[in-house]
Amino acid sequence: MRTPLVAANWKMNGSREFAEHFFADLDLEGVTSDVVVCPPFPYLPLVAQVAKDKGSIWVGGQNMSQEPVGAFTGEVSASMLLDWNARYVIVGHSERRSLYAETNELVAKKFVAAQLAGLIPILCVGETLEEREEGRTLEVVTAQIAAISDLIDTNAWKDAVVAYEPIWAIGTGKTATPEEAQSVHQFIRAQLGNIGAEVQILYGGSVKSANAGALFAQADIDGALVGGASLDAKEFAAICHAAI
Ligand code: PGA
Repeated sequence: MRTPLVAANWKMNGSREFAEHFFADLDLEGVTSDVVVCPPFPYLPLVAQVAKDKGSIWVGGQNMSQEPVGAFTGEVSASMLLDWNARYVIVGHSERRSLYAETNELVAKKFVAAQLAGLIPILCVGETLEEREEGRTLEVVTAQIAAISDLIDTNAWKDAVVAYEPIWAIGTGKTATPEEAQSVHQFIRAQLGNIGAEVQILYGGSVKSANAGALFAQADIDGALVGGASLDAKEFAAICHAAI
């Protein structure tokens, strides 16, 4: 059985004060899924401390460099994330792909570097509205997955998480219907080969407590990568409770 996973992606939101209040308000009593919080880098120590004290959350990075060390101004390495007990790192988020020109090839290098260092990459894949309307969803997702599969042994997918995030559903309030999401999740799982049955595949894109239950009820949806709704402790906790 795959353990459900709910990951908070705070993006470039929050403050030190916000983070302190967030965890004071976050009631995960009775939650059985894995829970990850990916804050902006400066708040990693704070989240790491909460993770240590509460014991019910994991720490994750929102991005990392594909390089291990050196003259890369503004970058953060896998080992730096590990210094703050991070277990996960998001790679290939659509905002990184579109705003910072991250290609499938670069994302694949980050994925490999994360695993090499001992982090679990949360690989984001997904199509734009235009690609969906052109009927190219599966083609786009296939290329995003294939760029990784070209570099790794199939079994390495076991130490990774995939997040299907249709770009048209991110931050827009539009969610893919549970059936639309399920069909892409099923397709992705098949793409991963035999090991696919063991890989957590999350859905992302305007997930909130009101739609989480219906999404999580789908056979191949193992949890969520949550942006906007992860900034509200009560709302995020409700999503975590829905993941069973
Ligand atoms: P959203 O973001 O929940 O605000 O749509 C999801 C994401 O970008 O990971």
